[in-house]
Amino acid sequence: MRVVIFILLLSLSTGSFASGNDWNYQNEGPDVWSDSYPLCAARLQSPIDIKTACTKYLSYKPFQFTEDYSMVHNFTLQNNGHTIVGTWNASYSASLKLVGGDLNGSFDFVSFHLHWGENYRSGSEHQVNGNKYAGEIHFIYMNPKTHQVAVLGIFMESVRNLTINETVEKTARSPSYTIDEWKRYFDVAQYLKKPDNTTNLSLNLSSLMGDSLNDFWRYEGSLTTPPCTEGIIWTIFREPIVFTESELESFRTNVYFEDYRDPQPFNTTEMPIELFIFVTTALVVPHAVFGELWNYGDLGPDVWSDTYPLCASRSQSPINIKTACTTFQPFLPFKFSSSYSKTNNFTLQNNGHTIVGQYFGNDTASFNLTGGALNGTFRFVNFHLHWGENYKSGSEHQVNGKKYAGEIHFVHRNPDTGQIAVLGMFMESVRNFTIHETIEKAAKVSVTTVNEWKRYFDVAEQLTQYENKTVLNLNLVSLMGDSLSDFWRYAGSLTTPPCTEGIIWTMFRDPIIFTESELASFRTNVYFEDYRGPQPLYDRIVYRSFENETLSTIPEYNCCSGASKIPLELLPCIAMKFLLLLFSHVSK
Ligand SMILES: *[C@@H]1O[C@H](CO)[C@@H](O)[C@H](O)[C@H]1NC(C)=O
Ligand SMILES: *[C@@H]1O[C@H](CO)[C@@H](O)[C@H](O)[C@H]1NC(C)=O
Ligand SMILES: *[C@@H]1O[C@H](CO)[C@@H](O)[C@H](O)[C@H]1NC(C)=O
Ligand SMILES: *[C@@H]1O[C@H](CO)[C@@H](O)[C@H](O)[C@H]1NC(C)=O
Ligand SMILES: *[C@@H]1O[C@H](CO)[C@@H](O)[C@H](O)[C@H]1NC(C)=O
Ligand SMILES: *[C@@H]1O[C@H](CO)[C@@H](O)[C@H](O)[C@H]1NC(C)=O
Ligand SMILES: *[C@@H]1O[C@H](CO)[C@@H](O)[C@H](O)[C@H]1NC(C)=O
Ligand SMILES: *[C@@H]1O[C@H](CO)[C@@H](O)[C@H](O)[C@H]1NC(C)=O
Ligand SMILES: *[C@@H]1O[C@H](CO)[C@@H](O)[C@H](O)[C@H]1NC(C)=O
Ligand SMILES: *[C@@H]1O[C@H](CO)[C@@H](O)[C@H](O)[C@H]1NC(C)=O
Ligand SMILES: *[C@@H]1O[C@H](CO)[C@@H](O)[C@H](O)[C@H]1NC(C)=O
Ligand SMILES: *[C@@H]1O[C@H](CO)[C@@H](O)[C@H](O)[C@H]1NC(C)=O
Ligand SMILES: [Zn+2]
Ligand SMILES: [Zn+2]
Repeated sequence: MRVVIFILLLSLSTGSFASGNDWNYQNEGPDVWSDSYPLCAARLQSPIDIKTACTKYLSYKPFQFTEDYSMVHNFTLQNNGHTIVGTWNASYSASLKLVGGDLNGSFDFVSFHLHWGENYRSGSEHQVNGNKYAGEIHFIYMNPKTHQVAVLGIFMESVRNLTINETVEKTARSPSYTIDEWKRYFDVAQYLKKPDNTTNLSLNLSSLMGDSLNDFWRYEGSLTTPPCTEGIIWTIFREPIVFTESELESFRTNVYFEDYRDPQPFNTTEMPIELFIFVTTALVVPHAVFGELWNYGDLGPDVWSDTYPLCASRSQSPINIKTACTTFQPFLPFKFSSSYSKTNNFTLQNNGHTIVGQYFGNDTASFNLTGGALNGTFRFVNFHLHWGENYKSGSEHQVNGKKYAGEIHFVHRNPDTGQIAVLGMFMESVRNFTIHETIEKAAKVSVTTVNEWKRYFDVAEQLTQYENKTVLNLNLVSLMGDSLSDFWRYAGSLTTPPCTEGIIWTMFRDPIIFTESELASFRTNVYFEDYRGPQPLYDRIVYRSFENETLSTIPEYNCCSGASKIPLELLPCIAMKFLLLLFSHVSK
């Protein structure tokens, strides 16, 4: 099972992971790494979300570090184009040895580096039950005989939103010499702003690691950066080290804005889900209010709940639709009134987060939508897009973990009940299709639809500033395309603050295709990205309108929670869950 990696030897011992410019955390970000580095799409990738209830207790021997750890050494800190890498002269670093922790043999210290994020609630690569920390420290080790690589990972917690008492309590858990040593590190490292910037700093590795090295999680994964080589032994310590927000901020501002990869699918069973009763709250029209209280960067989705508590509640959107876990239900088809199929004038306006299209006229009431198991008659409110940093990210919803390049929302409202219903469509970029694939995909989307969106982009891409607006005549039926019979349905929320719940979601299965240049024009001219990632499903049921569903090729996504009906083909997954349960009882 263990993979011996010879190629790694070179790049690891020089302390920098491939310093080329062919990948980054933006337009060439994690979602497209696998285009150039196929391993990044393999099955044992890191990081992962550690679901604590699914871990198994094992008794490990403690880690043992050689005496050199507690001495001060002259480290080289270098900006490698992605992070700051700390190395010690290779011939000496052999004396920084690590044994124990059930690692096979003796490991030499190679280097250490940090991952951080756009705000104090994001930045760690690993997550614990879906919680992110503000950052993550990686200490890389290698066994010189077997070339086995092992990484020790420690979470970085920001004290930004702790009360004084909490700060005192948390800080007491990290020794003061650890806090001081990291302060010395940040004072210097924050000035290594450009690739290849280098400096020397004397550091005590033992101080940097802190003293909470007993409790950890262990699994086998990969490098979290290209080439995503697998066969890496991961040790993630449970106890984080505390940092001030200004330390993290200094890296965000000076070095790189963010440099972390999201959790990858992990072959395990799912946690049991608690029962929860769904409560509908007051409804607000999406995107109606513009304020500087949220965005998709420093005030991004992970911190929205600071200002908008609803964003942390339990019926949030978007979600990852696990196709195997959906429940079939026949729906009456959607019925659109004749105004939908006429050409009408629409106002397109930049609202600070996206471009919102609203009907320009005074007979809004003529846009009636019925059917699709919606209660009553709904009226068209607006349509807008969400997109992302590259052609493999941008959709808010995901299907078995797959993101599309964007997502279109047609927002509707029932004037009698105030109920909001959103019809969502995936946008697929043809960027990496072969000619053959493009023709095949194009055959599924009508030429009228493709052309109508082209007209939209030609105009909308010029609305680069907040409040820029224009009028364009468009045909809603053309924009929606004609694959409206197969969809998923669930109860969710607005995907932007205030994250109001009680929204009826319809996500159509078949995407509409777009050229990469259309999406790139928004990325470059309007906003770089504007999408929220999937939220926990909890006990909600996702219905599908079509009978036959295909399962995911990723086994994890075929494991369903208790709330939904579990198809027969998933029984092996359930059986494994029981086996694991048995096993965990036996080993206690
Ligand atoms: C995707 O497109 C990029 C650039 O057009 C290319 O470098 C890459 O090899 C392609 N990947 C696949 C999987 O076709
Ligand atoms: C660290 O190394 C640099 C260059 O290798 C040297 O100039 C400096 O004096 C060293 N500092 C310490 C504290 O050893
Ligand atoms: C904070 O700690 C102090 C002393 O430990 C205690 O007297 C005080 O009540 C605490 N405040 C809160 C809000 O817990
Ligand atoms: C970093 O590199 C840039 C250009 O490569 C140089 O101008 C700058 O002085 C360097 N800064 C440090 C701290 O080495
Ligand atoms: C977190 O801190 C920010 C700014 O310091 C503040 O506006 C926000 O209310 C805080 N949130 C919580 C939950 O304490
Ligand atoms: C749209 O607006 C233009 C100019 O404002 C006007 O000439 C045209 O008749 C309008 N079209 C419709 C369908 O209302
Ligand atoms: C709004 O309605 C009035 C009549 O009630 C009509 O004269 C006017 O042209 C309409 N405006 C638009 C933009 O359709
Ligand atoms: C749509 O609403 C208008 C105005 O309320 C009404 O006249 C029309 O009959 C409705 N059409 C449908 C299909 O419900
Ligand atoms: C449908 O809406 C009506 C009011 O128009 C309401 O009385 C009824 O309870 C609703 N039914 C459902 C299933 O929501
Ligand atoms: C957008 O707004 C800016 C500043 O308000 C203005 O200079 C620019 O001309 C506007 N562009 C369009 C296309 O409306
Ligand atoms: C679903 O699959 C079954 C068996 O493969 C087939 O007989 C049936 O026609 C399919 N139904 C639809 C709606 O495609
Ligand atoms: C996990 O992976 C192993 C080996 O790749 C496979 O045999 C097993 O069926 C997988 N488990 C699940 C739940 O898919
Ligand atoms: Zn790392
Ligand atoms: Zn939206």
